[in-house]
Formats: sequence, structure tokens, C-alpha cells
Amino acid sequence: MTADQRAPGRPLLNRRLAEFGTTIFAEMSALAVRTGAINLGQGFPDTDGPEAVREAAVRALRDGRGNQYPPGPGIPELRTAVADHQRRWYGRLGLDPDPDTEVLITAGATEAITAALLALLEPGDEVIALEPYYDSYAAAIAMAGGTRVPVTLRPDTGNTGDSGGDGSAGEDGDARPAGRFRLDLDELRNAVTDRTRLILLNTPHNPTGTVLSREELAAIAELCVERGLLAVTDEVYEHLVYEGEHIPIASFPGMRERTVTVSSAGKTFSFTGWKVGWVTSTPELVAAVRSAKQFLTYVSAGPFQYAVAEALALPDDYYTRLRDDLRAQRDLLSQGLSDAGFGVFRAPGTYFVTTDIRPLGESSGIDFCLALPERCGVVAVPTQVFYDHEAAGAPFVRFAFCKQQEVLADAVRRLKGVVPR
Ligand SMILES: Cc1ncc(COP(=O)(O)O)c(C=O)c1O
Repeated sequence: MTADQRAPGRPLLNRRLAEFGTTIFAEMSALAVRTGAINLGQGFPDTDGPEAVREAAVRALRDGRGNQYPPGPGIPELRTAVADHQRRWYGRLGLDPDPDTEVLITAGATEAITAALLALLEPGDEVIALEPYYDSYAAAIAMAGGTRVPVTLRPDTGNTGDSGGDGSAGEDGDARPAGRFRLDLDELRNAVTDRTRLILLNTPHNPTGTVLSREELAAIAELCVERGLLAVTDEVYEHLVYEGEHIPIASFPGMRERTVTVSSAGKTFSFTGWKVGWVTSTPELVAAVRSAKQFLTYVSAGPFQYAVAEALALPDDYYTRLRDDLRAQRDLLSQGLSDAGFGVFRAPGTYFVTTDIRPLGESSGIDFCLALPERCGVVAVPTQVFYDHEAAGAPFVRFAFCKQQEVLADAVRRLKGVVPR
């Protein structure tokens, strides 16, 4: 506190950000360090990405490429690589952005989302976000003066076998229960008002691990077109889909011109610290996002942009191996959690598996996660912190499986020590 703040008792942090203290990840990671527990809380891999990509970054540094401000929209090599990537994976769905006008490089997906919201929202505009949501969304909406309107994803218990890919639930002694988190389309429709400006989507979805099905996405797209809404879609886990497929919402009828698609290199190439992300959209929407982005960071990660351009061009088998390895890790952890007595939801995508702790005789994920390091030497994250409707998330706990097999095997052994109360 300084002496003269004109308004005695006025808090330093402004009203828009007052509810956002330190993130749960910082708290849980500190707990992991203090107790020596295995940290399955935060979603970062414990092995770095491809050697060749690291070498590309070193080469760029040494050759003096990107050591000074790169171009504001991103280096042409990376914009071209992003456009090629979109065409390679989604060209059959009609996505083929122009690298000069329809691609913008950002400081990770986080800046892309924040810049999009700062660019597109007027104060008081409502933003529908799927709850539980990635923690930066609420803060970014608040910084842009928007009002968040959560629509809750809820776990089902049945095996409906839709194209979201959960068709084999419970088969062959598979311990994962039939059930993933789904969108209630009526709830979504009812959440739209005259003040709704955009829907902030995330698929594959953190923290639930769900992947929105074609039917869910088609319904969202129809709603956007019918009500004249924009969509900002966070697709950072686009390559981490183990069942079913990732379908960009920009590929649905009427959506290309109203969708800002966001992704980044962190998850796909296991370089979360590099913070290289991108936006693809129409020239008009890209220009709008750029207007905000230029005053946030202007540019970032110069030499890493060259390396990510090379990474995006890696052959298909890189992407296949990444997915297959992570699928095996998911299965190992899901089975172990199930054996330890947790209710385990299907995770058709992402790095995360969500569990229900009620079968263990527990009801508060927060209390459970605070005690877990002492009880068995593992750190997890209570999903409740990603909800506005806290009661809806109280019994759910998220575990990250982007860790080496030995680490996960050790965690699974430890988790057996969580005896139901
Ligand atoms: C859904 C989601 N979006 C965005 C991010 C952050 O992406 P980046 O590191 O590229 O900013 C994460 C990281 O965990 C995430 O889970």
C-alpha cells in the first residue's frame, strides 16, 4: 500500500480481477514440492519434445533469426506452416487459410484467447463458456469487461456410442466407466440472450477430457448462425484425441466467417514453455484480434517461431506416435484410478482424466486434493475451481497423464494407498 490512494481502503487489485488470486496450479505445485509428491496436477509433459525441433531453435538463435522483433503477425515461415497444417489436417473439411491475411502468431493460446476477447467484446457483452473451464477464460472475459455465462458439461453414465467416440465403454474388462462429459444443448440454447456476443468453446476439453461430438458441434454451429454469434474455439489439444475425431467448428456451415480458431505448439510438440500459439480466421477477424494483440506483447518467442515452423511440418508418424503414447498413458492411469476405487470418466482427448471421488466416501474435491499428498504422495487438482456452479464440480478431481510410464506406474501404486473412508 502506498500512502496516497485517494480512496482509503481501496484494494490494490481492481474489481474486474478481484476474484482471481493465484491459480490453483501454483498452490498444488507448491504442495507437491513441499511433500515430495508426484505432481499429476499441472498439465505439462515431463519429457521435452523432438530433439530436431530443439535443434532448430538453437540454430535460429545462433544464426540470429528471431533475436530481434519478428514481424507483428508472426514470421512468414510460421504463418505458412500454420496454414499448411490447417490444410493438411482439415483441408478436406474446407479449411485452407491464407498465411498472409488469415493467420496470426501469438504468445501461446492464452494470449490468442485474451486478445480475441479484448478485440471482440464491448463491456457488458455476455460470453457463454463451457463449464468447467480452463482458468484463463474467466480472467480474460473479466479483463475485457464481458460477463461470463457458464453452461455446465455433465457426465453421462450411458454408452451412446456417438461420434464423440465413447463407443466401447466398459468392454473387455476395460475399467473406464461408460460416460464422458456432455453438453446439454437445451441448456446452451437457453443461455443465449440478446446480450450474448460469443461462445467460447474448447474441444478437446480441459479439464474433463471430453471431445465434443459432431452432433454437439453441429448444434452449437446452428445456434451461432441462428443467433448471429461469434465463436472463439480453443483447440490446443487438437492432436490429442484417442477415440473419435477432432472436428474444428470453423468447418461447419456458416461458421468460417464467425469463428476465431486458436491453437498452439505447447501440447502438440511438448514445448509448453515456448508459448507459441496462433489464430486462424477470416482477414477481418484476424485484423481485429491483431489490434488487441499488438498492444499485449506485440511479438514474442522469435527464434522459437522458426523451430515451431519446422515442428508443424513433422511427418504424420510423429503425430500418431504422440497420440498412441498418450493413449497408453491414459489407459494406465485410468485403470489404476479405477482399481484404487475412484469413479473414472472416459477421456477421449487431452492430457487429463477426471474422476469422481464419491465411491471413496468423499464429497469435497478440494479437501481431498489438499489431503492427497499426505495420504499417498500424489497431487491432483479439484475440478470445482473451474466451475461457477461449484456444487456441480465438488466431487470431481482431475489427474494429468502426460507423464512418463514409470512415473504413472509409481503414482498408480501410491494411489492404491487411498483407502476409502
Ligand atoms: C484448454 C487450454 N487452453 C490453453 C492452454 C494454454 O495454452 P498456451 O500455453 O499455448 O498458452 C491450456 C494449457 O494448459 C489449456 O489447457
